[in-house]
Amino acid sequence: MFLKELHLFNFKNHESKNYKLGPAINGFYGKNGTGKTNLLDSIYMLSCAKSYFNNVDSQLVRFGQDFFSLKGNYGEIDQIEILLKFTKGKKNISNNGKKYKRLIDHIGQIPAVFITPYDISLILGNSDERRRFIDLSISQVNKDYLKQLALYKKVLLSRNAFLKSNEGNPIDPIILESYDARLIDSGQAINSERSAFIEEFNAIFKADYSHLTGDNEIIGIEYISDLNHSEFKDILEKQIGVDISAQRTTKGVHKDDLVFTINKLALKKFGSQGQIKSVIIAAKLAQFSYFSGKTKSTPILLLDDIFEKIDLSRAEKLMEMIANKRFGQIIISDTERTRMEQFLSKIKIDQKFFEII
Ligand SMILES: Nc1ncnc2c1ncn2[C@@H]1O[C@H](COP(=O)(O)OP(=O)(O)O)[C@@H](O)[C@H]1O
Ligand SMILES: [Mg+2]
Repeated sequence: MFLKELHLFNFKNHESKNYKLGPAINGFYGKNGTGKTNLLDSIYMLSCAKSYFNNVDSQLVRFGQDFFSLKGNYGEIDQIEILLKFTKGKKNISNNGKKYKRLIDHIGQIPAVFITPYDISLILGNSDERRRFIDLSISQVNKDYLKQLALYKKVLLSRNAFLKSNEGNPIDPIILESYDARLIDSGQAINSERSAFIEEFNAIFKADYSHLTGDNEIIGIEYISDLNHSEFKDILEKQIGVDISAQRTTKGVHKDDLVFTINKLALKKFGSQGQIKSVIIAAKLAQFSYFSGKTKSTPILLLDDIFEKIDLSRAEKLMEMIANKRFGQIIISDTERTRMEQFLSKIKIDQKFFEII
């Protein structure tokens, strides 16, 4: 599946843009601030129903306007037209003219992997960045997981509101139990999906890292969860005193984290900058392989500012991997057309370039 035609209307700084893309490499170049990251994000959004960067859809509307729309025409054997509209505070997506009842039904139809300079927060940022990574990785291939996540979040909010509203009064055990039962069900489902994912993902991730770097370092991801060693039911029971005084749920899968390791040491503390960058790219390439293995279609690969941010040897390795035709459609952005062309000149794959003004 590849994106043949992209229309943007009032999306961030883009008033009205229309691009006809090629099936392999597409390079977008233009000065800083011209909207290259925004353009790649629009392609991501057509796949995942959400901006990669911004959770608030209204902020994606071009300043001074009141709606935006994105349209992608995809083709290979089947032709698909995805139309995403945000108007009057509401987002709708239709597939070949048919509106989805729920946005989550669209996710995973057209898988995409986005590598951006902002991904450094995957290692250096808070645990929510890493939960986002694992959630986005699983949910593009597993709808049920997305439902469990939504359910967990909903029950968690209600349970917290309940703890807060009680303000020192004795807790009604029957109400608490009804929240807990639902939280335990979805929490345990999420925990086992995450465990299974990490186990499968680690093998691909290790292979991609050694491909990319040629290094002998052993890397891995460790999944940290309160639920790994105890039943969620027991945890909640044990924790109830703490939860009541904190007025929120202090343990559960909403506290999960991932530890990226290199030679068994935490990358966040002990990794060099170069190792961190390589790990991030390897994790994204592994995400690509994971999606490819789980879905029928090859994901679209979005590489934002890739040549600016990585060093020569890694960039060349990446180009080698691309040349081996492991990927399908690739969208690259750069400030310099010549730099992009130089890197891509060694690859004998169909290429198209677009200037963004
Ligand atoms: N909602 C919006 N409306 C109009 N412009 C926006 C909006 N959101 C961001 N921008 C503008 O988009 C520009 C940044 O685009 P970006 O994609 O990051 O550029 P590039 O990647 O080419 O450097 C900034 O000038 C910013 O002000
Ligand atoms: Mg940018």
